[in-house]
Amino acid sequence: MMNTFEVLESNVRSYCRSFPVVFNKAKNDMLYTDSGEGYIDFFAGAGALNYGHNNDFMKHRILDYVTADRIMHGLDMYTTAKQEFIESFSERILVPKQLNYKLQFCGPTGTNAVEAALKLARKVTKRNGVFAFMGAFHGMSLGSLSVTSNRSMRASAGITLDNVTFIPYYNTFSGLDTISYMEHLLTDSHSGVEKPAAIILETIQAEGGINMADADWLVDLRHLCTAHDILLIIDDIQVGCGRTGSFFSFERAGIVPDIVVLSKSISGYGMPMSLLLLKPELDVWSPGEHNGTFRGNQLAFVAAKAALEFRDAVGLDEQVKEKEAFVQQFLRDSIQSIDPFIRIRGMGLIWGIDVAHLGEAFAKEVTELCFRRGLIIERAGRNDTVIKIMPALTVSMENLRKGCDILKESMEQVYSSLVTSVM
Ligand SMILES: Cc1ncc(COP(=O)(O)O)c(C=O)c1O
Repeated sequence: MMNTFEVLESNVRSYCRSFPVVFNKAKNDMLYTDSGEGYIDFFAGAGALNYGHNNDFMKHRILDYVTADRIMHGLDMYTTAKQEFIESFSERILVPKQLNYKLQFCGPTGTNAVEAALKLARKVTKRNGVFAFMGAFHGMSLGSLSVTSNRSMRASAGITLDNVTFIPYYNTFSGLDTISYMEHLLTDSHSGVEKPAAIILETIQAEGGINMADADWLVDLRHLCTAHDILLIIDDIQVGCGRTGSFFSFERAGIVPDIVVLSKSISGYGMPMSLLLLKPELDVWSPGEHNGTFRGNQLAFVAAKAALEFRDAVGLDEQVKEKEAFVQQFLRDSIQSIDPFIRIRGMGLIWGIDVAHLGEAFAKEVTELCFRRGLIIERAGRNDTVIKIMPALTVSMENLRKGCDILKESMEQVYSSLVTSVM
């Protein structure tokens, strides 16, 4: 059975190499193989499954929609499903948060919305350059790859990726105040750097290793952008949609970005969807200028509307805060105690255990052992040395505890064999 994939599927496949079984079914925080073995899921579809696998509340809406022969594909035509999602998003998210954005539906992946954001920023400002951050991940198509910092990913482009200046992220380059550095780049007539169209960032670099920007730093960044007439683009593809304990990750700083990029869990059910939120005055697109056949998957609209209702019905943000407290305590008490140099970072339900000092092999061995014990957990960051905890926001307390126990036991085991081998 495995041979089918190894023989016929391209070498580009990746996650299946970390979790080499054939999955067949899934429910909320669990994945099951074709032979029925269960795995606790601490990866949640890389952030696409914030509401869990096959969430019943959404499933019924989807089934009803399909059964009634409603529109399944509508290009970007007006449909009831789209209208209802837009109205619900406005009513449940934008209006209560006093945000004034227009919605742009892009091609179905996050990377396509990043492309659109960059194109729009350049069109509005008539400038070429963009500032992005070291450690950033924004996608794998050429424009989004140009603002992604990982060297080997960039090399895959096969061409130069230009017009981007990379800036050290908050608190990652010791002693450097990155806001003053950018101010200097923008005001020094000999900096050699042109004023950019936009600054793009994740408020928590997820693939980059759970590097978190401080709220004050985000406020300063907003001021810098405003002062220099530069657009602020927040890529909330992975850490938006409730992941940090509020719908948008930037709410903790009280800032309003000019453009927000959403994908992954916006559709709620693993359906492909991406969405750009743009300030109305930036909406200078001509019709069809960022086009695509699959802009606006109708089932994604249905699921996305249901997801917003589900959030409110169960008080999801509150639940995330309770689970955040549990994970934080667990990491302090049970993981940090393993080795004093382990670094813990995160908030909401995205946490990183930074074991850079123990090396890539250590991190890999831990996640492999977790998998053998029934836990799906991934690594991120430079050399993949940050073990990333990212369960569905709907994870049960029982499975959250069980998953954490597996992680602790696996880390302790690999650590003790490392210590023994050094002695
Ligand atoms: C922050 C961020 N931006 C963009 C992307 C790209 O999204 P997609 O894989 O849907 O193209 C990702 C995917 O992991 C991401 O985490």
